Parts: sequence; C-alpha cells; structure tokens
Amino acid sequence: MSNPASPPAVGVLDEGPALTFPPGFLWGAATAAYQIEGAATEGGRTPSIWDTFSHTEGRTVAGHTGDVACDHYHRMPDDVRLMADLGLRSYRFSVSWPRVQPGGAGGINQEGMDFYRRLVDELLGHGIEPWVTLYHWDLPQPLEDAGGWPARDTAGRFAEYAHLVADALGDRVKYFTTLNEPWCSAFLGYGSGVHAPGRSDGADAVRAGHHLMLGHGLAVQAVRASRPQAQLGITVNLYPVTPASGSAADADAARRIDALANRFFLDPVLRGAYPADLVADLRGVTDLGHVRDGDLATISTPLDMVGVNYYSRHVVAAPAEGAEPEPYWRAPSCWPGSEDVRFVTRGVPVTDMDWEIDAPGLVETLERVHREYTDLPLYVTENGSAFVDTVVDGEVDDPDRLAYFASHLRAAHAAIEAGVPLKGYFAWSLMDNFEWAWGYTKRFGMVYVDYDNQARIAKSSARWYADVIRRNGLAAQ
Ligand code: FCB
Repeated sequence: MSNPASPPAVGVLDEGPALTFPPGFLWGAATAAYQIEGAATEGGRTPSIWDTFSHTEGRTVAGHTGDVACDHYHRMPDDVRLMADLGLRSYRFSVSWPRVQPGGAGGINQEGMDFYRRLVDELLGHGIEPWVTLYHWDLPQPLEDAGGWPARDTAGRFAEYAHLVADALGDRVKYFTTLNEPWCSAFLGYGSGVHAPGRSDGADAVRAGHHLMLGHGLAVQAVRASRPQAQLGITVNLYPVTPASGSAADADAARRIDALANRFFLDPVLRGAYPADLVADLRGVTDLGHVRDGDLATISTPLDMVGVNYYSRHVVAAPAEGAEPEPYWRAPSCWPGSEDVRFVTRGVPVTDMDWEIDAPGLVETLERVHREYTDLPLYVTENGSAFVDTVVDGEVDDPDRLAYFASHLRAAHAAIEAGVPLKGYFAWSLMDNFEWAWGYTKRFGMVYVDYDNQARIAKSSARWYADVIRRNGLAAQ
C-alpha cells in the first residue's frame, strides 16, 4: 500500500527515453469470447449467464447483447490476419464454455470445439502463440440454475470442462489460464449484481469467490494430469488501494478494501490461506462455513505463472456520517461487510470509464505480487483504456489511448528493472467489443469496429503498438 504522505505521482511515466524489453518478451493483445464472437445460437452453442442477463430488460446499457458482437465467429481468419499485420506474438482469447460443452455437462460439442481448433491453427500458422483463458465469465445457464458459483458443485463442473478443453487444444496450446478476474465473477455477479447473473447477496458472493478458486485448483490439477507440459496460471485483477488521508480510520478502510479486492484471491491461491483480517471483516456476512478441509490445499495447487490485469487504483476513506458512497459502488454492494467505505476521486485524469489513469500503480502492483507472494513469472494479461473514438476520413486517431499504453508500458519496464520477472504484456483489447453492462458504448480496442458493417480500422494506438513490438520496446517520447 502507498504511503499516504507521498501520493502516487500520476502521469510521470508519460514521457521518457527509449526503452528495450528483455528478449522474448511476449507482446500480445486480449479478447474474451462473449465480448467478440457473436453467433450466440450457432454451432450448438446454448445460453450462458451473460446471454440471459443481457436479454433481461434494464441490465445492460440500451439493452445491448453479445448476440452478434464483433461477429468474430464468422470473421476469425480475417481477424487473425489483422493480428499478424500488427505483429502480435501472442493472442489471449477465452473459450466459451457453452459453445464447447453446451449446458455445462456431458461430452464435447465438436462443432463448437472445432472453432477453437481452427483459431489455434490460424494463429500458429501466423507464428502467433495462442493463450487460452478457460473462463471469462460465461457460465452455462443450467449451472446457474443449479445454484451457480455459490454452489460447490460448479467447481467440479468447471474442472471437467477444463479437462475437455485441455484434451482438445493442449497439443498445440502451451499457455492456459483458468479464471479471468474471479473478483468480478464473484462480487459483481453475486454481490452488486451489475454483472451476470445479477444476484445481490454478500454471503453468496463470498461463497462464489471460494468456489471459483476451488474450481481453479481442480482445473489446474485436471489440466496438469492430461497436459504436463502446459504453463498454467490464473488471471486476477488487482488494484493498489490507497488511503485518502494519513488518518488511522482511512488506513483501516484501505486495509479492508485491499483484503476484499486483492488478498481474497492472492492469499488462498498463492499462500493456501484466507487472510485473518478478511475473515474477521466478513464475520457479519458469513462464517465461511462453506470452506471444507482440504479446499485451501487444492486452491493453492502450484502454478507456473500468474496473470495480472491492471486498470486503475482505488483511493478510499473511512465511512463518514451523511457521506454518500460513489454511485458505482452503492448498495447493493460489491464490498460485503465493508459497504460503508467511501471511494474517493482525486481529480486526476480519467478514461471514458471514469477510471483514474495511474501508471505508477502498475509498478506498485507488480512489485507487490513479486515481493509479497511469488517468484513465479508474471504476465500483464490485460491493461488498457476506453476513450471516445471518431472516424475521420476512414482513420481513427486515439492519442489518449496511445498515451495510456505508453505510460503503462513504461511502468511495466520499470517493474522489470526493479527485479519483477514480468514476461509479457497483453493489451486490452485487440478490438472494440461488448463491454459487459456497458454494451457497445465503451471502446477499449486498438482496432476500431464499426458495428453497422463490422469493418475494422486499426487505430493510431494499434499502429504505434505494432512499432513497439517490432523494436521490442519504446522509442523516446
Ligand atoms: C476487465 C475484463 C475485460 C474487460 C476489461 C475492460 O475487467 O476482464 O473483459 O471488460 O475489464
């Protein structure tokens, strides 16, 4: 956690000398199945919780759904060619569980799996390393109907599915991450309910978080058994949490949010235990009676790498009489047991998501994971920003997004200089896509997507990133 006496120097990483990354640094871009594929009912695919949620009135901005999205399912070879044009060394994509195992039970749906087989072939044919995320939030709806992630059985179902995917793709895919951002699945899905399945119950959110991690551990074991050569990991979204002032009360607010946002996952997965202060904070929510003997050993099954998604920092203050929490975090809360903590905005530049731009927070986050938790190789599996884009004469100039990438790549380099074994970086996102509850109203892509005709336009940030990859680093700025 930052020392409140010396607030983070936001933006200082925007400019600097030329920087070179270590040889073999894995330069990539990321997407997720439901955000780009479309073809929601084709090839035997059945609904996931995001299909149900997005088709429920009032859940997503303007009722947007992933039914068509970027139509990547039909345009995949062209999209891979685009990746090759940008010189990507790796592409991180997720497998849609209800496409390859409709309903979340039984054998493989060959037609669905063939899509990923073809994708992997295309990637390898262009010299692009495939990086598979097994779960990027699209739980098959029947598993939600049976209780969802708050139900223990879902963890076992996930391991079975992971095994199917590893069997089908593991001969050519080396990198597998189990879960993407389990915090979002648990606390936005079952706590605040702003994500699918849209339930709001603090105890369920905590149970979901546990069963997601149990599923992760079981999946690692299942994939390892069938594919001993695979590089296995998990992706967590981490935030530095800074107290708004030097007061003891604000420091305690920061401790609580850090426990829920970061240590809830880092400690069980990398240390095999829940933090004692988190357990105490949650006492009014749950007694953690769902945690069984042996679970934490499974959850902490050894990994080969850890993926970190980084977007911004949380600055928090102690509850105050009459002070309203920030709208995004308002009840029902995604912070069970700590609902009253206030999220403070500092007036620094923000993205179109209203997320504060804070590149030094990436250095802080990576150094912390390395110093406090693990010597394993780390990868930034997502980092990026939404800004409003306009097409002028068939081109999209996005200097803000470019500056965001540049400052965060400088931060990534600073972390490496400080001794962090950072081995790769994946820009979020390859292309504009369905931004969950925000639908198509937020653009994170390096490639612009015209949703009227599915045309793709490489933005200036994409052309700049291609140059970064070519020179394995940044030019002086
Ligand atoms: C992350 C998600 C990703 C995308 C970005 C903006 O939380 O993993 O799918 O929505 O945020």
